[in-house]
Amino acid sequence: MFRLLLRTAFLASTTGMLVADLPPPADAEELQPMSAAEFDLLKKTLLYTEDDAKALRASREILAGQTDALLDTWYGFVGANPHLLHFFTRKGDGKPDDAYLAAVRERFKAWVLDTAAADFDAAWLAKQLELGRRHHRSGKNRTDKVDAVENINYRYLPALIVPLYTTIRPYLAAKGNSETEVDAMQEAWRKALVLTVILWSQPYVDPRDF
Ligand code: HEM
Repeated sequence: MFRLLLRTAFLASTTGMLVADLPPPADAEELQPMSAAEFDLLKKTLLYTEDDAKALRASREILAGQTDALLDTWYGFVGANPHLLHFFTRKGDGKPDDAYLAAVRERFKAWVLDTAAADFDAAWLAKQLELGRRHHRSGKNRTDKVDAVENINYRYLPALIVPLYTTIRPYLAAKGNSETEVDAMQEAWRKALVLTVILWSQPYVDPRDF
């Protein structure tokens, strides 16, 4: 405790600022979508190439008839984990809101095909900021006018990449593509999920640090 006090005093004296003086979390309404130039640097950083775009587009055709089954798997994972299902529960009685789950599931299905289209233009970038907000307290519950838990803890967003990436593989393999093609599609999905979660992080992160 004493060390903490010392450290706080040190920080306050060196920055001239107390923790209480720090600016409040960003007003997510004022955030701007990432520019195309910034997004290019991000893609470059995580080795996203035109080959990945092609592989994603190839996956679109394969996944098109399977989004219901894929969502069964993904929702099955969330439903089997009370700490995740929690974010679909009502604040009032703590029970899952079935109508909320069903409405989000429909948008999730559309999102799979939208992501697989790999058309990452300015409209798509703006949409990602909105989808980030819908996980964050600045936009969650708004679309479905529900009174559910108000924020999804940030730590679970990057964590969910792993089960989504892992469990998509059988669906990518379901139409008889070669192992190499399935590998390429799964790898492209991995990168698309990482890109997506980075963009969705924006409402959670101090703009100076994003
Ligand atoms: C890789 C990470 C994730 C992906 C790709 C993802 C995907 C999606 C998609 C596509 C939607 C529908 C967006 C819309 O069109 O409105 C959505 C909404 C939602 N997701 Fe996620 N999600 C992720 C992480 C999480 C986690 C960890 C949770 C925790 C259970 C979660 C809970 C929700 C909830 C509650 C909504 C509804 C938000 C609202 O009120 O509009 N998501 N997610």
